[in-house]
Amino acid sequence: MNFNIATIPGDGIGPDIVEQTILVLDKIGEKYGHRFNFTEVLAGGVAIDKTGEPLPQETIDICKKSDAVLLGAVGGPKWDNLPGDKRPEKALLGLRGELGLFANLRPALLHKPLKDACPLKAEIIGDSLDILVVRELTGGIYFGERGRRTGKYGEEAYDTETYSVKEVERIARVGFEAAMKRNKKVTSVDKANILESSRLWRAVVEEVAKDYPQVELNHMYVDNAAMQLIRNPKQFDVIVTSNMFGDILSDEASMLTGSIGMLPSASLAEGSFGLYEPIHGSAPDIAGQNKANPIATILSAAMMLRYSFGLEEEAQAIENAVTKVLEQGYRTGDIMSEGMKLVGTKEIGQLIINEL
Ligand code: IPM
Ligand code: MG
Repeated sequence: MNFNIATIPGDGIGPDIVEQTILVLDKIGEKYGHRFNFTEVLAGGVAIDKTGEPLPQETIDICKKSDAVLLGAVGGPKWDNLPGDKRPEKALLGLRGELGLFANLRPALLHKPLKDACPLKAEIIGDSLDILVVRELTGGIYFGERGRRTGKYGEEAYDTETYSVKEVERIARVGFEAAMKRNKKVTSVDKANILESSRLWRAVVEEVAKDYPQVELNHMYVDNAAMQLIRNPKQFDVIVTSNMFGDILSDEASMLTGSIGMLPSASLAEGSFGLYEPIHGSAPDIAGQNKANPIATILSAAMMLRYSFGLEEEAQAIENAVTKVLEQGYRTGDIMSEGMKLVGTKEIGQLIINEL
C-alpha cells in the first residue's frame, strides 16, 4: 500500500531522530511491500526563523492532505522569550486544534531490559509496567476562554476549563476501546469534588461505560491519582483524563519507566488520521551531535502503522526490533548504564533496521 506522511523534524534533536525513523519506515516498506512518501514541512522554532510564524498555513495544508504526521520536537531557549502566540509550542496546540487531534495516547511501558531505570523499588514495580494514558487533547483549559481583566485586586488573568458532553464522550470511548484490547480496566481521573466540568465528565464517562460492560471502571480524583501512580502503579491499565490533568499525569507516568527517551505517543482525530511524536522535548544541548535517542520516535512510527495504517504486524516488527537491540545491550547516552554498549543516534537506528 501507499501512504503519505508529512514529517515535521522541528527543532533541536528533532531532525536527528526523525531521520532515523524515516530510515526504519523505509526498511519496513521494503520488507512488507509498502510505499511511504515523506513530505517535510516546517513547524516550531525553525518555522519562526524561516517564516516568522510557528505554524505556517502551508504546514497545516500539507498535514491535512497526508495520511499521518510524524513530528520530532519543537522549541528551545532561542525562542523562549517570544510572546505566547509566537512561541514554538504554539505550533503544537495549533496542529492539535487544526487537525482535530482530540485523543492523545501516551503509553508508559517499562521495557524489561531497562527495568533498573525505574526509580521505584523493585517490589512495587515487579518486572513490568504497562499503563496507557488517554489524554483529551483539544478541549479543556488549553482551549477555553482566556484573557486579562481588572478584578478586585487590580489586573488579573484567567483561563477556563470547559468540556462538552460530546468531547467527553468521544475521549471516553477511545479509552474504553483501548481497554478492551488491553486489561479491561479504565480509571477516569477528574476533580469532581470541586469542578463542575469534572462532574459532567464523570457523568458522561458513566454513560459511555454502559456500552462496555466487560470493562471495569473506577473514578479517581487527580491528586489521589498522582499519589497512586507512585504508591501502586500496577493498579492502572487505561487512565482517561482531561487535557491538563493528562499533561501532568503522563509526565509522571513516563518517569515510572525511568527513560523519557523511550516513550512514543499518538494524537488521533476521528477516523484514522493521526500525529505521532515522542513524548520528550527537543534537547537543544545535544542537537546534531549524534547523541539523541531516536527510539521514542521510532516507536511512535510503530504506533502510526498500528493506528493510522492498520499495519499491526509491521508495528510489532518495529517494537520487537527495538526490544532485541536493547536486549543486546546497546544504549544511547540517556539510557546508558554500567556494562552496556554506548552508541549514537545513527548506530542505534541502524541496529534496529538490521533487526527488521
Ligand atoms: C505535552 C507538552 C505540551 C502540552 C506543551 C509543550 C504545549 O507539555 O505535549 O505534554 O502541554 O501539551
Ligand atoms: Mg506535557
